[in-house]
Amino acid sequence: MKKIMITGACGQIGSELVEKLRKEYGTDNVLATDIRKPTSSSGPFEVLDVMDAERMYELAKQFGADTLMHMAALLSATAEKNPVFAWNLNMGGLMNALETARKLDLQFFTPSSIGAFGPTTPKDNTPQDTLQRPTTMYGVNKVAGELLCDYYYTHFGVDTRGVRFPGLISNVTPPGGGTTDYAVDIYYKAVEEGHYTSYIAEGTYMDMMYMPDALQAIVDLMEADGEKLIHRNAFNITAMSFAPEHIAASIKRVMPTFTIDYDVDVARQTIAESWPNKIDDQAAKDEWQFQAQYDLDAMTADMLEKLRQKNIKHAS
Ligand code: SER
Repeated sequence: MKKIMITGACGQIGSELVEKLRKEYGTDNVLATDIRKPTSSSGPFEVLDVMDAERMYELAKQFGADTLMHMAALLSATAEKNPVFAWNLNMGGLMNALETARKLDLQFFTPSSIGAFGPTTPKDNTPQDTLQRPTTMYGVNKVAGELLCDYYYTHFGVDTRGVRFPGLISNVTPPGGGTTDYAVDIYYKAVEEGHYTSYIAEGTYMDMMYMPDALQAIVDLMEADGEKLIHRNAFNITAMSFAPEHIAASIKRVMPTFTIDYDVDVARQTIAESWPNKIDDQAAKDEWQFQAQYDLDAMTADMLEKLRQKNIKHAS
């Protein structure tokens, strides 16, 4: 990776990924693109609707990219509200990105998700290779995307790579319309109000990861020796698995007065229940030495400290 173009650069992952890559590879070697203009930009930026195949190709060519990271997508709960638009954007955008990578011989990354699993997938220690019959439009898009990335590697030799991200937690850019987002909201509400009403029910386990580990995973996978990759795309990775009461208990250890109650949103609860409790990420560990640094309490300590600092800045 020397010249990297990113789509969806203003999104939850993209906004932090751009900063990390600029630090590691140089500001001018990372082209951020998004359908929205950022409020401030730390380097090269171009407006790009990922449905515009020609512009995507031209931007990558003009920039002299050797790598394309395709991050633009609609998350699970939003996709469920507008499934036709989700299909068009998630699949159309991915096809345009893969075609750009094929024509310009770019290394390619795009994330899949725990959403690529469904209710008939084994729920505990979900294997790397297993039954995938998701019941959400987002999941359908992710499975199709995993297969497309494999196809572009086997048929066209495009160096496609990817992971199945669990719920991602960050204090920088809020996520938009995911099912796992309660685990982000809870920290904001803890700092702002000392209380959180969870839309996910007690006892609902899902895999999660702190954003610094997710960003490092992208870099490590892209830098890994391709010869050693057996799976290439859609590696299961996770850092922790918990239910709402566990993240609440972790916050309480830092803020003893914090309280939680529940007002379950059936739509998002149904999605959560169709996903695994805990996935097995041994393939990622074996093939490219994936290792997360943050467990639940380490993440809680860092999240609360960073959000308190932000709150103080806002207030002053
Ligand atoms: N975090 C995503 C969502 O909840 C899953 O990949 O939609």
